[in-house]
Amino acid sequence: VSSQGNSSDGFLSCLSASIPRQLVFTPSSPSFTPLLKSSIRNPKFFTPSTVRPLYIVTPTNASHVQAAVLCGRRSGLRIRVRSGGHDYEGLSYRSVRAESFAVLDLSSLRAVRVDAQAATAWVDSGAQLGELYYAIGKASGVLGFPGGLCPTVGVGGHFSGGGFGMLLRKYGMAIDNVIDAVLVDAKGRLLNKNTMGSDVFWALRGGGGESFGVVVSWQVKLLPVPPKVTVFNVPVTASQGAADLVTRWQQVAPALPEDLIIRVVVQQRTANFQSLFLGTCDALLPVMSSRFPELRFNRSDCREMTWIQSVPYIYLGSASTVEDLLNRTTAESVFSSGYKATSDYVRQAIPRDAWASIFAKLAQPNAGLMILDPYGGQIAAVPESATPYPHRAGVLYNIQYMNFWSMASGDGAVQTRWIREFYAFMAPFVSSSPREAYFNYRDLDLGENVVVGNVSSYQAGMVWGQKYFKGNYQRLAMAKGQIDPDDYFRNEQSIPPFAKSR
Ligand code: FDA
Repeated sequence: VSSQGNSSDGFLSCLSASIPRQLVFTPSSPSFTPLLKSSIRNPKFFTPSTVRPLYIVTPTNASHVQAAVLCGRRSGLRIRVRSGGHDYEGLSYRSVRAESFAVLDLSSLRAVRVDAQAATAWVDSGAQLGELYYAIGKASGVLGFPGGLCPTVGVGGHFSGGGFGMLLRKYGMAIDNVIDAVLVDAKGRLLNKNTMGSDVFWALRGGGGESFGVVVSWQVKLLPVPPKVTVFNVPVTASQGAADLVTRWQQVAPALPEDLIIRVVVQQRTANFQSLFLGTCDALLPVMSSRFPELRFNRSDCREMTWIQSVPYIYLGSASTVEDLLNRTTAESVFSSGYKATSDYVRQAIPRDAWASIFAKLAQPNAGLMILDPYGGQIAAVPESATPYPHRAGVLYNIQYMNFWSMASGDGAVQTRWIREFYAFMAPFVSSSPREAYFNYRDLDLGENVVVGNVSSYQAGMVWGQKYFKGNYQRLAMAKGQIDPDDYFRNEQSIPPFAKSR
């Protein structure tokens, strides 16, 4: 620690006045490495060459967060905030370039307070999505929330980057349903929706929290779900006509009634049609036979359950239980797989012959997979500038590309190259000028900040910023200029400050 210089020593002594010692970890502490590893989802960022934090601080209340920010600024040490640690590029706990920083790990700040009567909840950023869903399910059988599928994703990163899942067609994104937030800014002030200003409150909902401060908690609107929902999963292989079906799905899925979502996971030679319907099997059957008869869906494909049961069922499998939503530990099996991911948005249906080529590429050795999430419905009804998330009307579906490898057998170079080549191959079929991408599926291949005069460059940030945010990039940079003009909160893809006087 002493070799890191006075500034970091200053951080520790400054903290000692305001934060109990047992909440601050240095690399010499036996708990440091297990704590660092505890929510890392992509082990390729846990190697000897990874640039790791000097300290980890685990606040248990907002005053600890304020103290960490003030001490960080005073001693010239940057802070990276980690909620669930699922960042695809690991930016919540590692730095690409050599840099001294502390990690503010919010895993001990994870209360969920549901007010079923008012259909609202306050959730702390360190809660995982599964804990939020579980608390909602406990409080009411007829309320839900439209966030992502994976229960261990952190609320902090997920909400501040957008957030969508199986309710996206009915209720839009997580951010479309955030009604208040508590933020610690770069001056250490504790702000809410009214005191942070409307531009900053707008920016936090999709523009990435890490650029604006530390979001301590969020108030969300809860939405009605019926007592019974229906899920199905229908696999179709290439020899059973998967390419034809996916071609047809592109027209069908975005135009279905909002109560129905059918997403597709395409892997090797199989397309898995996965669905959530907000209603009974009896009500679903006529919709499927009139809108998508080609899938040959029938009653035996239906599984009826409550909404809260559908959450683990869809992501963790049919053997899982609602209690599994509370499991926070990253299984060793998950930790042993590195991955590379990226994303696209499709605005015009991809022709049948291109799908034949796509299936051929997905059947290659070391190929990855594609997840297709259909849009339309409520997600498309929100104007592009209402939140920083601009991928709305006109988007047929989102594509996520992912490729995995075993850390024991290699560094993922082959699988990463496959993703990059496949991404290049897909260019003619997806959105362009800009080629849109989802901020929560972060990909540093899209561009990285350049720091000029100790501030991230607005101009350089446009390269990646317009892909994630389209025309909203400039307003995000202006919000950043208001709340953090010195660019204290920054990472490789944080919003650069834009001064109005420019
Ligand atoms: P993490 O803690 O790594 O933070 C991500 C970023 O947000 C970092 O830059 C961090 O500094 C910043 N941040 C975190 N907490 C903050 C806070 N309190 N204040 C300010 N900044 C903060 N997405 C989706 O929309 N739908 C889905 O279904 C899924 N599914 C999914 C599955 C799996 C296995 C993974 C790994 C990821 C997803 N995602 C997803 C993507 C996910 O939404 C995205 O990675 C989120 O940013 C993760 O949030 P965490 O808090 O877990 O990440």
